Amino acid sequence: MCGIMGYVGPRPASPIILQGLERLEYRGYDSAGVAVADGGVIEIRKSAGKLDRLRQKLDESEPAGHIGIGHTRWATHGPPTDENAHPHTDPTEKFAIVHNGIIENYFELREELRASGREFASDTDTEVLVHLIADEYDGDLAEAIRAAVKRATGAYALVAVTAHEPDTMVAVRMIRPLVIGFGQGETFLASGIPALLDHTRDVLVMEDGELATISAAGIILEKLDGTPVERDHLDIDWDVEQAEKGGYAHFMLKEIFEQPRVVADSLLGRLDGSAVTLEDVKWDSDFEQSLEKIWITACGTAFHAGLAGKEMLEGLLRIPTEAVYAHELRYRDPIVEPNSLTLAISQSGETADTLAAARLLHERGSRLVAITNVVGSALTHYSDDVVYTRAGLEISVASTKAYTAMLVAQYLVALRLGQSRGVLDTARASEVAAALEALPSQVESLLTREAGIDEMSRYLATQLSDENDIYFIGRGLDYAVATEGSLKLKEISYLHSEAMPAGELKHGTLALITQGTPVIVVNTQAHVYDKTISALQEVKARGASVIAVAYDDDSEIEHYTDHVLRIPRTMDLLSPVLSIVPLQLLAYHVADARGLEIDQPRNLAKSVTVE
Ligand code: M6R
Repeated sequence: MCGIMGYVGPRPASPIILQGLERLEYRGYDSAGVAVADGGVIEIRKSAGKLDRLRQKLDESEPAGHIGIGHTRWATHGPPTDENAHPHTDPTEKFAIVHNGIIENYFELREELRASGREFASDTDTEVLVHLIADEYDGDLAEAIRAAVKRATGAYALVAVTAHEPDTMVAVRMIRPLVIGFGQGETFLASGIPALLDHTRDVLVMEDGELATISAAGIILEKLDGTPVERDHLDIDWDVEQAEKGGYAHFMLKEIFEQPRVVADSLLGRLDGSAVTLEDVKWDSDFEQSLEKIWITACGTAFHAGLAGKEMLEGLLRIPTEAVYAHELRYRDPIVEPNSLTLAISQSGETADTLAAARLLHERGSRLVAITNVVGSALTHYSDDVVYTRAGLEISVASTKAYTAMLVAQYLVALRLGQSRGVLDTARASEVAAALEALPSQVESLLTREAGIDEMSRYLATQLSDENDIYFIGRGLDYAVATEGSLKLKEISYLHSEAMPAGELKHGTLALITQGTPVIVVNTQAHVYDKTISALQEVKARGASVIAVAYDDDSEIEHYTDHVLRIPRTMDLLSPVLSIVPLQLLAYHVADARGLEIDQPRNLAKSVTVE
């Protein structure tokens, strides 16, 4: 996730900005930069790589000046290079901007600017904004920004300075966070509270659709339409570690609660009605028509996302689809059909087994698509196409938000292929697209509603935390979710858990079900609903204690279960994005009740780059 730091006041700006960026390092980044305005010029130092490289450049020649902005970039548009690092400037070099988030319509804006002769120095969406601001400038930076952001859509935060007004920086928050810190005759701005804590605890949190004009003396806070805003400051008593976790006890919990934003970002700029744009996918319609087989390969949580993808892609597209663990596939001798597509899914893009399996299929003639969270990761280097998941840095070893983003990426691929191959008619495609668009607010309401899922899963966790064996069951997409729910639980709570298709129970595992054995069932798929109820009756008859994940309006489920974790109603096809959330929370609370480490479970690494 990108980080922003700004400063205006009596002290030299660069060291303060660098210190703030260091405090935001934990969020992950691939490049960094600083812009300082002084004496009618703006000087920029920026570099791909870690802050050490920027520090070296600043040591060699530090720009003098008392106002400046800085940025750590987590690439979304364009690879991590010096050119793509922020700040970006306009051709006159009188304006500089840093930006977090995504400008949804940057492509159209850039083409428009190019048509009028503009040249761009980077691949980023950000650079479009600084051109627009420079175009609109008529002696008032705040007005120019107001006019520029009217033309931009998306979820972002931006801060700009201009050499024409060397005492002021202007910030806009459109969904992405920005906080302002107040010192004695100096003012700070950042994308996160940790960056401010070395200087002040007197903080104001900007809200969506607000513009702040920031000087050393203080700020003018307005809505974008110019309406003045009054807001109380907060006195922050968090330490830096608490601040990094956004007040949550663990990164895992923070990342679970980030999922509404992650799902929204994964859709941003990619859905227009039901039309799907995947910016780094280059295959043509001939390829789409000729497609005969889809392979999915991955490990761990990414594989579980792929299991859901297999069900969903095969069901929607009627193309044979096979999901294979990468560590198995790499030592097989797979028969790769000529017109095949491989989805290699990996949060890190660096998992050794996934890389090897993906290469094998690619070498045998399959087109290779990377679904990954890390721009420029190894997997992207030899893939034909990439769908970035836009989850932002995931710190907890137990993957949560990356999983939901992987699901969304696969839905987008399916929606695009389904329409181009004519298997999804307009009405059905629109229905899927509308249901996808509704997901961010549904995940949000699931996480935040009163007497909600967090409290319920915390309560159930107290009952599960002393168990030895826990079973997860479901059918079809629900089975795919059960596999991920089980992995989440075992990797952080160290309890034995097992997931299986509900129909498999009676072929062996039923022998293990006795009085009080916990069974967790996911039951959202209408076409197999009754079949799963039959499996529940079988385990209930043997004394199992059953927790279900089911839709809000499912009034039947409670007759067969002890507790129900409710999720909002969606199309059955999309339910994994919602049904996984209670299982993530349940796993988290069980591990917490057992007093375990959570973010760094024993024996596990975030990214398994060796065999
Ligand atoms: O980076 P990747 O998505 O390729 O990682 C794959 C697995 O190692 C990873 O999902 C692992 O299973 C997580 N610890 C699960 O929470």
